[in-house]
Amino acid sequence: MLVIASDHAGYALKQELMEHLKARGTAFEDVGTYSPESCHYPIYAEKAARAVAEGRYEKGILICGTGLGMSMAANKIPGIRCALVSDCFSAEMCRAHNNANMIALGGRVIGPELAKRMVDIFLDTDFLGGKHAVRVDMITALETK
Ligand code: RB5
Repeated sequence: MLVIASDHAGYALKQELMEHLKARGTAFEDVGTYSPESCHYPIYAEKAARAVAEGRYEKGILICGTGLGMSMAANKIPGIRCALVSDCFSAEMCRAHNNANMIALGGRVIGPELAKRMVDIFLDTDFLGGKHAVRVDMITALETK
């Protein structure tokens, strides 16, 4: 199960991505924002990121204007590895090498077709483990160092 969240600047792209998720049969929950009214992105980043960190969702998608604020906020939550992506190769590698459990997208940066493609790659790519798991464990260790 997937969680998705945006601020006002990511709201329109989120609507398109939710239609895409429905079309591909991927279950998700939208934890806000629920209108294009101006709001504060850390509220929604925290809601979605805590839900992933607590195991209520396997993965999450965050959208703001650039994806920057959402990714910065989400990565403050222990257990979250949120990748800001704007190309398909990074969308693949953030799963294969970094075991990202969230991606952040910029609604003012990328178009909807690229966003849909990157979401598909994020959802469909497995973590490779092995030496990459050692490195991801080192990232996790930084949370308590
Ligand atoms: C909102 O204007 C904008 O700052 C926000 O969506 C995001 O891009 C922040 O990183």
